[in-house]
Amino acid sequence: MKQRILVLLGTRPEAIKLFPVIRRLKAEQVGVTVCATAQHRQMLDQVLKLAKVVPDFDLNVMTPNQTLDNLSARLLYDIGAVMERVKPTRVVVQGDTATAMTGALAAYYHRIPVSHVEAGLRSGDIYAPFPEEVNRKIVGSIADQHFAPTERAARALLAENVPQARIHVTGNTVVDALILAKTMVEEDPWMARRWDDIKQRHGNRRLILVTCHRRENFGGGVQNIVNALETILNREDVAVVLPVHPNPNVRDIFSARFANHPRVVLISPQEYTDFVSLLSMAYLVLTDSGGVQEEAPTFGKPVLVMRETTERPEGVEAGTARLVGADYDRIVGETFRLLDDDATYAAMARSHNPFGDGHASERIVKVLLDA
Ligand code: UD1
Ligand code: UDP
Repeated sequence: MKQRILVLLGTRPEAIKLFPVIRRLKAEQVGVTVCATAQHRQMLDQVLKLAKVVPDFDLNVMTPNQTLDNLSARLLYDIGAVMERVKPTRVVVQGDTATAMTGALAAYYHRIPVSHVEAGLRSGDIYAPFPEEVNRKIVGSIADQHFAPTERAARALLAENVPQARIHVTGNTVVDALILAKTMVEEDPWMARRWDDIKQRHGNRRLILVTCHRRENFGGGVQNIVNALETILNREDVAVVLPVHPNPNVRDIFSARFANHPRVVLISPQEYTDFVSLLSMAYLVLTDSGGVQEEAPTFGKPVLVMRETTERPEGVEAGTARLVGADYDRIVGETFRLLDDDATYAAMARSHNPFGDGHASERIVKVLLDA
């Protein structure tokens, strides 16, 4: 039977991690339909445009400050309707978002097999990351093909009794995307000069790249992070670059505190290529993002992870990342250590990426074609 693969994506990281797979599927002339739920709007469109992915369906579900229950209900309903129309032979979802979870559930209700890209990540705590840990478990319980980025992720699935034959260790497609983006920056003189203004204004300072958006950090956690950044910024020798996530629960707080700070570059979400350039310029990274943890090691940038736990411990084990929580003292203490102690910095600034080798999408498409 001829394959009709339905690829679902809703947020910025899903688009980043799936565009290399979509590209390869199209190159193989597989019947592929792309459905953007647009759980994110501007941030998703930025990636789709850059990657030249034109969705066949756009569900446009995003509403301002959406709640998990309302968002998930609308996603389930609208994705189900797309499945009715497309009648795919297989559905591909990525990661741990509401789109991935409801996409897998809708596929199950329609009795369509599901392939899970970035399977097997587990923190062991259903409230951190929230709601991603449970989203992944739901997808994992439905999928019949699990594309685990690392051996550790594969072991987590085996421990949940997923049969070995259904698990494929592929590497994380984020490294494929990163390599494509790096090449685009290197080959385009305009992109390569994108941040000359920051270099001119802050060239003698060490740049700290900061991203923050996790739901479990909303409220007290975000306050601690903002306070810690203010203390760090008392130093004249650092500048902070902060592409602010548009979620009002973080955007409004960062904007209120840092809009006029002379050593903070407060910017809107950046094109993927521009963000990759920022990563390559940074001295260190402070983040609660999943994807950024996976990218920074390619550039040899130390990452301080503003979470109590991570489902991506490979960076911590490799010595390139350290968990600091959303904790004022640990964020300030570890940042100062990296700024002041050359040996600590050198030990963490190793350029080795434990998450992938840039060939994950090749491996994934091979399995999809053989199914
Ligand atoms: C979502 C995912 C999270 C992922 C993150 C990546 C869920 C439950 N959460 O979190 O797993 O790590 O995306 O960034 O799936 N907004 C805009 N424009 C945009 C995107 C978001 O204005 O392009 C604002 C809207 O007010 C929206 C809010 O951000 O309601 C929250 O978006 P949502 O997708 O629900 O949650 P995220 O925190 O972005
Ligand atoms: N990113 C981007 N522009 C930005 C900030 C981040 O393109 O201004 C990219 C980043 O390189 C990574 C992804 O977005 O690939 C991470 O997305 P996010 O932190 O929103 O989600 P998470 O990975 O935590 O799910």
